[in-house]
Amino acid sequence: MRIVVTGANGLIGSRLARLLSSRGHDVIAWGRGPQRATLNAAKYQSLELTDARAVSSAVSAAFPQVIINPAAMTDVDGCERDPLGAWDINVGAVATLARAARLSASFLLHVSTDYVFDGDAGPYQVDATPNPRGAYALTKHAGEQAVRALLPADAWAIARTAVVYGWPAEGKSNFGSWLISSLSEGKKVSLFADQRVSTTHADNAAAMLAELAERKLPGLWHVAGAEVTDRVEFGQRLCARFGFDASLITPARMVDVRLASPRPARSGLQVDRTTNTLKAAPWTLAEGLEALLAEYRKGRP
Ligand SMILES: NC(=O)c1ccc[n+]([C@@H]2O[C@H](COP(=O)([O-])OP(=O)(O)OC[C@H]3O[C@@H](n4cnc5c(N)ncnc54)[C@H](OP(=O)(O)O)[C@@H]3O)[C@@H](O)[C@H]2O)c1
Repeated sequence: MRIVVTGANGLIGSRLARLLSSRGHDVIAWGRGPQRATLNAAKYQSLELTDARAVSSAVSAAFPQVIINPAAMTDVDGCERDPLGAWDINVGAVATLARAARLSASFLLHVSTDYVFDGDAGPYQVDATPNPRGAYALTKHAGEQAVRALLPADAWAIARTAVVYGWPAEGKSNFGSWLISSLSEGKKVSLFADQRVSTTHADNAAAMLAELAERKLPGLWHVAGAEVTDRVEFGQRLCARFGFDASLITPARMVDVRLASPRPARSGLQVDRTTNTLKAAPWTLAEGLEALLAEYRKGRP
């Protein structure tokens, strides 16, 4: 298959481009600026996704069967400070891609987030009603609506993921890589005990996304790890597996911290539909930590 993957310098995009090219697909990997990630046989192209004209002509030239869009402004507090910039990439660029997908009869697999839910009563099923709070959440939710509005029902999939981790940090640091960097140097970390989340190894997310793309499975999907934990429990489990000192973890409460953007507290994604449909099953936390330890020992994913 000819597949376009955006966000190719990012955590999910880079792993997805590598995985799909290792499976023999013709992968065109779009990133911003120079290539920074290892992409194996995927062909890298620099593309500013907020440039609608450039995106439309790039899609016409590539003529892909599938477009996968992990690219986004993912800095949650950064989105709060720059809602216009967040809108341009998290909504405007998504609408441009959906329009181009429609014109080229491509299937669009768009990557979204558990933040579309308010986090008052998670974990959430795929058909739960979103109630986004904060600029990141609002723009990611609006991006989902752009996909649904602009494409026929059998031509799109939206895959929500949550707290994705992998080593080393490709692009910006992630929850897992930050914990490893800090704890391995004996630095204390403060973790929220009152935020429950699904956590997802990046390779597991990539495997589930790759299968959704290959099978062109339409609709809403949750591509996340199989378990929901609080952040302290995740840190303690990581310490136990990596041999780090768990007393470096200081439990904190999200309600006591002033954050620029609100975070869902009782979040988490139910993965039943994914588990029942895909061969690439959501991993348990033990499986995710095992994969993280293996890449930490190798020094690469
Ligand atoms: N990581 C998580 O914990 C998590 C959790 C829930 C949902 N998600 C969703 O999963 C997706 C992928 O996340 P990720 O962790 O892989 O994010 P990431 O590492 O931040 O990668 C996102 C990529 O998008 C690119 N990008 C941003 N603006 C762009 C623009 N205007 N033109 C072209 N490229 C642009 C970035 O380029 P630069 O590298 O140049 O900045 C970056 O490489 C996102 O849609 C996110 O909302 C992630």
